[in-house]
This record gives sequence, C-alpha cells and structure tokens, in this order.
Amino acid sequence: MERITTIADLRRCVDAARNDGRSIGLVPTMGALHVGHISLVERCVAENDITVVSVFVNPTQFNDKRDLELYPRTPDEDCALLEKAGCTYVFTPSVEEVYPEPDTRVFDLGGVAEVMEGRYRPGHFNGVAQIVSKLFAMVSPHRAYFGEKDFQQIAVIRAMVAQLQLDVEIVPCPIVREADGLALSSRNTRLTAQQRINAPRIADTLFKSLTFAQSHTVDETIRYVVDTINDVPEMRVEYYEIVDGITLQPVAQWSDSNYIVGCITVYNGEVRLIDNIAYCRP
Ligand code: PAJ
Repeated sequence: MERITTIADLRRCVDAARNDGRSIGLVPTMGALHVGHISLVERCVAENDITVVSVFVNPTQFNDKRDLELYPRTPDEDCALLEKAGCTYVFTPSVEEVYPEPDTRVFDLGGVAEVMEGRYRPGHFNGVAQIVSKLFAMVSPHRAYFGEKDFQQIAVIRAMVAQLQLDVEIVPCPIVREADGLALSSRNTRLTAQQRINAPRIADTLFKSLTFAQSHTVDETIRYVVDTINDVPEMRVEYYEIVDGITLQPVAQWSDSNYIVGCITVYNGEVRLIDNIAYCRP
C-alpha cells in the first residue's frame, strides 16, 4: 500500500493504472476507520484491480464547528487497517491541498437533498457534494463505494452523479452493526460508558418496529419509534421519517411504495447518531 498526500501524485498513480486497462475503485472516508468502513474497502478490493481509499475530514460538510474539532482522527491505525484490507493507495491530503481556495460551488440536488439531514444540517450535503465531486474528478473511478448507514448520502451522491453526468457506478453497501445491533460509527467512541450501554436501543427499536408496522399505520409506527427511544435516558430523537427509498419523500401509507425506509437521527447525550431500516425493498 502506498500513502499519497498530493493530487499530482494521486493522478499519476491512477492514470497509470487506467492506461494499463486496470479498473479503479474508490472508497471515500473521513478516517477513524472501523469494520463498517473496512467492509466497503474489502468489497472494493474484490471488485476492482486498484483500490483508492481517501481519508480526509472534510471541513465544508460540518455545519457545527465543535463537531469538526471533536471528530476522531487515528491516521496510524487507519493505515494499518487499510493495508490489511488490501487497499492499493491511501490518499490523505491536507485541507490546503483539497481547498487551495474556498469552494464556492452551490449544488442544487433537488428533493433528495432537502429532506431530513438536508433540513437539520443545512449545508452538509453541499459540502459532501463538493468533496465527493472533487475526489471523483481526481480519481475518475470506475466504481465508488458508499455505506447504506448514510442512506440519504447515497441518494444525494446519485443525484450529483446524474446532474454532472459522471461515468461512475455508485455501489451501495449494507450497514455493519455491532453484535448488540448498534450501527458502527466513528462517533461511537465519543459515547460515555452509560450512553454506549443505551445506544443499541436505537437499532433494537427500529427492528421491533418492523413487526409493529405490520398491524399499525405509518404515523403510528413513527410515534412508536420516537416515544420508545425518547424514553431512554439521555436520548432525544431529532427526527424519524418513513420515506420512499428512491425519492426520500415521506410516505403516508405502507401501500404507497414497494421500497420504504425509516431514517432516524438521535442525540445520545451530545453525540448525534444516525441509523435506518427498510420496511420493504424491491
Ligand atoms: P464516513 O462517515 O467516514 O463514512 C465513509 C463511508 O463509510 C460512508 O460511505 C459511510 O456510509 C460508510 N459507513 C460508515 N459506517 C458504516 C457502517 N456501520 N456500515 C456500513 N458503512 C458504513 O460518509 C462520510 O465519511 C463522508 O460524508 C464522505 C462520503 C467521506 C465525504 O466526506
């Protein structure tokens, strides 16, 4: 595995591979890597000749300065995990390398970017589109891998790829969970011992809601999930929305779509956790 910090070096490596007819896969990350990230890397390694993993805490997607400051950074551990997973190139640029000048681009990615995270984290997806479009331009990957844990992010990136007419296949990968159900997240390390003990209640409630939903309406299911999680000490649901899996617009009834996903954001103390579950998929 080779560690690259400049765009010029990155281009040299991926251009050489492409000219040799080798396929290139990209896994964008912000580091503090865990088994969830590594599942994307392993899939990418299996499906491509060359795997590029970017590790870059992208400042433009943080609308909360404190969240950016507190974001965990573990570069040495990240490199060890990536090497073991078979990554070819790890790209760890500085902020100045990626943003020599402020990125003033404003994306209009339509309805998928406006709901849920779009409403509660204004500017977040614009920052994601900025960095991912830059990475796509630097690497020109054949395929790029994203986790379904950030369900809305995948929809937003698909919208960006369509709008910019990019030739890259977006590969969604399933959520990796701890044995107790908690979705793996770099932010989990910021939970106190007690918050960590309570955290699996989020996934547990989502899974139980699958059964609940069979005999209740969409609105009743939303209320069940929100009330159950809000009863857990230190937890506060920011939103729970049950949406169409493609348009991400709320559904009113279970019969409205054959692809329905519930997306949740919960503050566990001051740590913001997200998760989601499919009620049905095509
Ligand atoms: P980050 O939060 O580091 O996540 C990198 C990728 O790993 C994302 O595609 C995310 O969905 C996936 N991932 C995280 N936890 C996962 C889990 N438990 N199971 C499966 N996949 C998981 O998402 C970002 O970074 C950034 O927004 C980025 C796309 C890199 C742009 O800066």
